Formats: sequence, structure tokens, C-alpha cells
Amino acid sequence: MDAQETMLSPTSASSKTTAKPRQGFATSLGAIAATLGSAVGLGNIWKFPYMTGENGGAAFIVVYLLCLFIAGLPVMLSEFVIGRRSQANAVRSFKKLAPGTPWHFVGVAGVTSAVVIMFFYSTVAGWIYAYIFKSAGGALAAVDPAQTPAVFDALTASPVTPLLWQWVVLAVVGTVIIAGVQNGIERVAKTVLPILFLLLLVCDIRALTLSGAGAGVNFLFRPDFSKLTPGMFLAALGLSFFKMSVCMGVMTTYGSYMGPEDNLPSSMLKVALSDTLVSIMAGLAIFPAVFAFGYQPDAGPSLLFITIPMVFNSMPLGQLFLTLFFLLAAIAATGAMISLMEVPVAYLSEEKDWPRTKATLVSVLTVALFGMLGTFSTSILSHVKVWGMTFFDFFDFSTSSILMPMAGIAISIFAGWVLGKKVIVDEASNHGQLKNQTFLSILSFILKYITPIAVTIVLLSGLGLIKL
Ligand code: PFF
Repeated sequence: MDAQETMLSPTSASSKTTAKPRQGFATSLGAIAATLGSAVGLGNIWKFPYMTGENGGAAFIVVYLLCLFIAGLPVMLSEFVIGRRSQANAVRSFKKLAPGTPWHFVGVAGVTSAVVIMFFYSTVAGWIYAYIFKSAGGALAAVDPAQTPAVFDALTASPVTPLLWQWVVLAVVGTVIIAGVQNGIERVAKTVLPILFLLLLVCDIRALTLSGAGAGVNFLFRPDFSKLTPGMFLAALGLSFFKMSVCMGVMTTYGSYMGPEDNLPSSMLKVALSDTLVSIMAGLAIFPAVFAFGYQPDAGPSLLFITIPMVFNSMPLGQLFLTLFFLLAAIAATGAMISLMEVPVAYLSEEKDWPRTKATLVSVLTVALFGMLGTFSTSILSHVKVWGMTFFDFFDFSTSSILMPMAGIAISIFAGWVLGKKVIVDEASNHGQLKNQTFLSILSFILKYITPIAVTIVLLSGLGLIKL
């Protein structure tokens, strides 16, 4: 069978798969929950608020939404299509759909990015776990707000405590992954997402009922486009990929776990809408309170760990709300980490034919080992620089701002030009059963002509390689 036939035949890919039977998601709802569990994470609770705060508020959100439509969503659908059509992990999927071509390197890049992202993601998740206990135990409430930075500095300057928390995060993630796709990933997502949503709602109500909350709401919803820069477009683009969990093999892997009846475009829209809602809700829990107490929104990455504790401690029942806030952030971070870990695990267990437990242990230990570089970036390795950045910043920048946009370009070209409209429409309409052909034709057009060009321009100008 040649490449074109392989692509056009929906069942051929699954008929000659690995020896082991593949487990998928049990239900469509479970598939959406797991995908949302991946999308909602530190991107929503940490990155989105601090980047919005740094980049002037609503105008950045508008740019973000634009990036979501021309890049994040089309690439997400492409990955679903690639995964479900091939019924294989992030690397093998390309090998099946385009045999004998180098396209599978896009999958290799995805698996690599997923692992590298975890080197810094698990560090931040560890800080968040630590902060649940610091806020519940009153360690933050007890100090004068001016001392809050000192609490964060003390935590991150220690080489030991953050490392232990990072290992706790990895142990939790590893346990869920070993439990399997249905009993682990799907079940955990269905249980914790409603809790996360409720906690966020409680924090929103608290922040929005403070006097002076209106300034924060304006900051989030009244755009001032005079603040836009090319760098902001790159940041928003990277964020749209990061938040949708695309370009890293996660959505390809999850697409491969989806069933033949699952509605891919509708799942994509539901996940994107809910994820955006969670980001806005996180903004509504943060900025009204920040403005109400006269703090600045542009603190950068430390917004979550310094500004938020200061702000929450200034309000009635602050200790309780601060604890709830970090609890929901921990839930979100863990859910996203689970999906990242599933990428190398699916790859190793299928390609090397390893049992799931072994694949998980090797993946977790690799992240624990190199993740130390991320964790030590604020302590004993703070003076070590790669391209002028600490390891932590390097892991973040090289994935979000370079690898992900490059993978985004490659995936959109693969979907738009190699698979082509016919395959996309066939797979994403469940072979014509769903009446969504017009929508899919528009998406195919965007994938073919707009996404690769727009992402290339944004990448080059964001890196300062071309001037707009
Ligand atoms: N989407 C997650 C977040 O917003 O925090 C992070 C993430 C998960 C990025 C999985 C990439 C990924 F493949």
C-alpha cells in the first residue's frame, strides 16, 4: 500500500498495529475530560495571568484569541486527525500516514518537547504543592505582606525543599499513568475537573465582591491596542499552543485513544471554549483583587507566588481562599503533567514493547534527573546560563517560543498539504456521517494557507529575525 492509499484508508492503519491491544478512552465524555485535563494547567493559572498582566491586559487577550483561531485550534484538530487515523503514538502515527518519509521527525520533536517541558513544569508544580501547605499552615498569613517575596525567595533558594516537592509531583503523576488510560487518566480528569471549576468559581466570587474590583475587570476586558509589540504576538502564539497542549504529541496520542464515533471538531471546540473560560476565570480571581489592593499586575512569573499571596492576605478569609487557590492550581498542574507524561510512556511502551510500568518509571526518572536542572536554576545553578538564560528559562523559551511554533508549522503543512482536505474532512466528519463539511473545509483552508505562513512570520519577527 502506498502513502496515499494508507492515508485514505481509515481502517488500514489500525489493522497492522503493535502486538499489544491498545487501550483507548472509554467514553466520549471521558475523552473530552482527559483532553481538557491536559489543556487546563499552569498555562491557565500561572502563564495566562502573568503574561496578560505583563502585556497590558485585554489587548493581549485579543491577540491570544486570534492566535487560537489561526493556529492553536487548527493544529489541535490536525493532531486529533493524525492520531485517530493512525491509531498510534506520536511518532509511529507519522510513519503510518506517510511511510518512508522523514515526517516522523515531527513526532520525535513532539516527544522531545513534551519531556523538556516537564523539566521546568514539574518545578513550578512543586512550588505550588509547597504553597498549599504554606498557605494552609498560615506561613504566608503570619507575615507582613511586604515579607511575602522573602517566603518565595526562601523556598526557591533552597536546593532541597523544591526538589522534594518536584518528586512528590512526579510520584503522583507516575501513579496515575501506571493506572492506565481509562482507570488513571480518564477517571482522574472526570473527578477533578468539576472540583477545579468550583474552587475557581468560589475564588472569583470572592475577588469580584471586593470594593475596587472594577479596575481589574476593566484591565481584563478593555483593550488598549497601543501596547502591542511583535514580541507579544510570539508570546501569545506560543501560549495558544501551550494552552491547547498541541505540538507536543499529546493531542496526537489522545486522538489515537478516541473512538470512531467521537466527534473530533466538536470535542476541539468544547475543550477550547472551556479552557478559555478557565483562563478568564483565573484572571477574574486575580486582577480584581490585585487592583483592589493597589498592587501592580505586571510582576511576571512571580505574580502567582508573590503578588497573589500578598493580595489574598489583605482580604477577609484570605488564608482560606489562598489555600483553595493553590489547591486548584495544583490540580490543574497535575492534570496537564499527566498528559505530558503519557507521551513518552505511550511511545516507549509501543515502540520498545515495554510494559507500561517500566515505560512510566523510565520517563519519570528521566524527568526527575534533568528536572533538577530546572529546580536548581533558582538556587545552586542560578549562575549557570545557556544562551544567557538559566536552565529553567531555557527549557521554557526553547519549547514555547521555538520548538512549539516550529512543530506548529510542520504539523499544519503535514495536515494541509500532505494529508490534504480530503483526508481531514473524511476523518473529522467520521467518514461523512457528521454534517460538518463546510466547517472542515474552512479549517483545511486555514491549515493549508494561513497557519504555516502566519506562524512563520510571528516566529521570525518575535525572534527579531525580520522586521515588520
Ligand atoms: N496545556 C497545559 C497548560 O496550559 O498548562 C500545558 C501543557 C500540557 C502543554 C501538555 C503542552 C502539553 F503537551
